Amino acid sequence: MKRRSATLGLLLALCGLAMSGCGGPKLTPYDMKRAKEFMLSSLPPLLPDPSNRYGDDPRAAALGEKLFFDTGLSANSAVSCAICHQPDKAFQDGIPRAFGIDQTPRRTMPLAGAQWGDWYFWDGRKDSQWSQALEPMETPAEHGMTRDMVAREVVTRYRAEYEALFGPVPDTAGWPYFASPLLPGNPQQNWDTATPQVQDAINRVFANTGKAIAAFQRTLKPEESRVDRFFAARLAGQEPAEADRLTGDEIEGFKLFAGKARCDNCHSGPLFTDQFFHNTGVTLSDPEKPDYGRAFAVLFLKQDLFSCAGPYSDAQPLQCRELRFMSEDPAVFEGAFKTPGLRGVSRRAPYMHAGQIETLEEVVEHYVARPDPFATLPEVDGTVTPHGPHTEVPEISLTDEEKRQLVAFLKAL
Ligand code: HEC
Ligand code: HEC
Repeated sequence: MKRRSATLGLLLALCGLAMSGCGGPKLTPYDMKRAKEFMLSSLPPLLPDPSNRYGDDPRAAALGEKLFFDTGLSANSAVSCAICHQPDKAFQDGIPRAFGIDQTPRRTMPLAGAQWGDWYFWDGRKDSQWSQALEPMETPAEHGMTRDMVAREVVTRYRAEYEALFGPVPDTAGWPYFASPLLPGNPQQNWDTATPQVQDAINRVFANTGKAIAAFQRTLKPEESRVDRFFAARLAGQEPAEADRLTGDEIEGFKLFAGKARCDNCHSGPLFTDQFFHNTGVTLSDPEKPDYGRAFAVLFLKQDLFSCAGPYSDAQPLQCRELRFMSEDPAVFEGAFKTPGLRGVSRRAPYMHAGQIETLEEVVEHYVARPDPFATLPEVDGTVTPHGPHTEVPEISLTDEEKRQLVAFLKAL
């Protein structure tokens, strides 16, 4: 009896060292070291956002949650953040290009874990989550509101909660109607009729609305996956629970992901993203109007009233490090999009910034093929000059079996 448990103990210790496969494929100490990099438990603590002093205030999160689900903040009373970012679909919508009041040019992004990023949207044209939240409300195809409408709704319908957080609501009596500085035509003209004081009052309510919504989104944490639980058990020298076991293919897929297939060049760390922008040669969703991604976002960020360096930010200018040290060369970022995290990726087809690729199998084929649609485009406005094939995807070669294993690993995430 004693002897048997000693043998069992030895076996478990070997499982822990992961030298024996415990019945599965072998994981070397090196593999386990790599595995640790991707585990949710390796995620660093979430740092405060210096540009949003309400970011970690539970009262702001409670208000933000209501605003997130509020269809009253849309022109047709049918659109809220949650119709595109659906909680039961990993805060995504499962369609190639998002649809609010009308169709948008890009695919909805998942939200859990987004708070660890430095830049928001596929092209990173926003440098905080509160500033990001403002844009869909003023975009005609999404919420379709004007800035005064959003601010008026918030201070009238959420007055008590708003005042408890941000102080007395401004007097809306002199506010213009249907006014937005960013919407050409009537909204812009209406905005220009308002005094700078009124414009500032509206902007401040608008910014605070974004800060509350961001506080809610900061509470949306990624869930632990079977892969996390499997590796955690192995690292602790235990045999993973039956339901958490990875198959041989999934384990081989992990080794390929972090090795030969070089996916971790960009999909690195516990969120499977380097939080940066890369051109991966994804087919243009509309060749007539090519989406240049990060290249134009950089120009936009410099002028954004709601950036970290703007008048509605709570940060000291020196705290806006990302913005200060942002690379500004548009040519470098042509066709580059933010590396998406891959947790739960099998639940949110189709893939890429405009849903150009339907299945994970096809995504892997794309990486093996390394196309470069931007290579043949003409120069646009002299700002972006195509300079030959320049997908950043490294050359890789995978057998059919390896492709299958890589997909199996992605599905386990
Ligand atoms: C019509 C559908 C739609 C609505 C409504 C909508 N979104 Fe989005 N969301 C998208 C799309 C599409 C993107 C990517 C757009 C892009 O890159 O240009 C996105 C991107 C984001 C991102 C960036 C995530 C990241 O990792 O960079 C966040 C955060 C976000 N939305 C939050 C919100 C909030 C908050 C609201 C409500 C105020 C909202 N969204 C309303 C479709 C929508
Ligand atoms: C050079 C950096 C880079 C490398 C290497 C890379 N990716 Fe990506 N990946 C990206 C970027 C950037 C996107 C978004 C591209 C777009 O939408 O235009 C992306 C998108 C994806 C998506 C779609 C996710 C979604 O939500 O739409 C999957 C899946 C994916 N990559 C898996 C992989 C796998 C598997 C490998 C290895 C074979 C890999 N990637 C290698 C940068 C990279």
